Amino acid sequence: MLNALTRDRLVSEMKQGWKLAAAIGLMAVSFGAAHAQDADDALIKRGAYVARLSDCVACHTALHGQPFAGGLEIKSPIGTIYSTNITPDPKYGIGSYTLEDFTKAIRKGIRKDGATVYPAMPYPEFARLSDDDIKAMYAFFMHGVKPVALQNKQPDISWPMNMRWPLAIWRAMFVPTVTPGLDKSISDPEVARGEYLVNGPGHCGECHTPRGMAMQVKGYTAKDGNAYLSGGAPIDNWIAPSLRSNSDTGLGRWSEDDIAEFLKSGRIDHSAVFGGMADVVAYSTQHWSDDDLHATAKYLKSMPAVPEGKNFGQDDGKATALLEAGGKGDAGAEVYLHNCAICHMNDGTGVNRMFPPLAGNPVVITDNATSMANIVTFGGILPPTNTAPSAVAMPGFRDHLSDQQIADAVNFMRKSWGNQAPGTLSAADIRKLRTTGAPVSTAGWNVSSKGWMAYMPQPYGEGWTFSPQTHTGVDEAQ
Ligand code: HEC
Ligand code: HEC
Ligand code: HEC
Repeated sequence: MLNALTRDRLVSEMKQGWKLAAAIGLMAVSFGAAHAQDADDALIKRGAYVARLSDCVACHTALHGQPFAGGLEIKSPIGTIYSTNITPDPKYGIGSYTLEDFTKAIRKGIRKDGATVYPAMPYPEFARLSDDDIKAMYAFFMHGVKPVALQNKQPDISWPMNMRWPLAIWRAMFVPTVTPGLDKSISDPEVARGEYLVNGPGHCGECHTPRGMAMQVKGYTAKDGNAYLSGGAPIDNWIAPSLRSNSDTGLGRWSEDDIAEFLKSGRIDHSAVFGGMADVVAYSTQHWSDDDLHATAKYLKSMPAVPEGKNFGQDDGKATALLEAGGKGDAGAEVYLHNCAICHMNDGTGVNRMFPPLAGNPVVITDNATSMANIVTFGGILPPTNTAPSAVAMPGFRDHLSDQQIADAVNFMRKSWGNQAPGTLSAADIRKLRTTGAPVSTAGWNVSSKGWMAYMPQPYGEGWTFSPQTHTGVDEAQ
């Protein structure tokens, strides 16, 4: 059981431990100064910004590793892949790449030696990068990044899945041919810039769009239909929710300013970042210009809602009254009262910018309960950002609560304060998550999202997507 004192101690410990990370500017630009004479400094700086937009650093840096030297573990259903060294080291990195080689790797996923890379590298989205942006980024990687002589790790994938030639067939089948740069059919220049950022460098759909049977992303732009940005599969047991304009589980209740602020600081009054998105904010979006953040928000808000069920309604006040009366007779309410209410409050409204509200929170009411179960079991860390430099943590309860108690608390939250999420979690769901890391299945639940989870068995245990390791909570953002 947590009292106010314990909470305050927890919060202050987190702040102590996490003060470090705040101010990190454009990294590495100062290295390589000797090589930079002949290259255009402004071009390198622009390239550094394009690399920020594309979040190359989060994937191409190992936990505790040197920037861009590769080695981050990325789990996939067929085995573990490692990101590669993209520093300009001539032997181990991409120092020998010409602009043409580099462009081919970014847009087509083809290495200098001709082999195709696994689509864990988001080249289907990066194909949208304009010629100018690629040129600038090339200058940055060649002259603004410190070379590191570190050998690449071979993927842990066994035969026959380790052969690379099928990857070229996969590319031919699933990767659409795109025109680089802005979509000329969008008349509002701000929305067009936002569309470019989200679907090109930002590669938001890699996590926020569901994938099909062959792990292909189901849609790369709004023109591809309702699946696009409608919420993805669990990535390391974090669900990337829908970014469509639905008012229950999408961004319908978020203003443009909310979205821009969330991407800049990782927290707004009614939400806080965690999981894979924490890395996106810490390594990438907090460095985006305000104009780019607003363009992104405007584009996201310009997309129509998609059909879905009703997961949120009027709060009848019953849950709050039950908690205020001590929660007696309701197992979930009792667990909540003794372990959670101190931070998230009896009425589920939380504390602005510290403890996120649970009432109406898309993470809580979204069809798939995996993120919910995961954060209650293992905890979460809200990363420090330049505009909100303290880190705040949600403690994990795996050592304090039984599987049944965690399931009860999650079920209680999903049906309280107006929340009307479908399904009921069992103790067995939590035990599986805790011991094998398997996401919670929605099989048999009456869910509206007919994503892969609804009828697909879980053939690969880990989930049907690429899961890069998360730096947040381990490393300072680079
Ligand atoms: C979501 C993770 C992710 C992001 C983001 C990402 N990459 Fe990659 N990249 C990878 C992985 C994984 C590989 C290796 C895949 C393989 O072994 O088949 C790779 C391969 C490459 C290669 C092929 C060359 C080589 O060393 O084998 C280049 C070049 C590259 N990435 C550059 C970039 C650049 C530049 C950016 C930013 C614009 C970027 N990557 C962003 C995951 C990522
Ligand atoms: C590595 C996977 C990943 C990528 C890439 C990614 N996201 Fe996310 N995103 C998540 C996860 C997981 C969550 C849920 C956790 C949270 O709310 O912080 C999330 C949550 C969000 C939310 C909050 C939604 C809500 O209802 O709570 C917004 C807004 C968002 N992402 C926008 C973006 C944008 C814009 C991009 C592209 C620039 C992007 N994301 C790229 C994984 C990702
Ligand atoms: C010490 C304060 C504290 C306690 C106690 C606490 N939480 Fe949290 N909770 C947080 C913080 C801080 C976050 C944001 C973490 C992040 O974003 O990484 C959070 C996030 C969450 C989220 C995700 C919502 C979102 O949008 O980020 C859920 C769900 C949640 N808590 C449920 C619970 C439950 C259930 C309990 C009790 C079993 C509990 N919390 C106890 C502080 C707390």
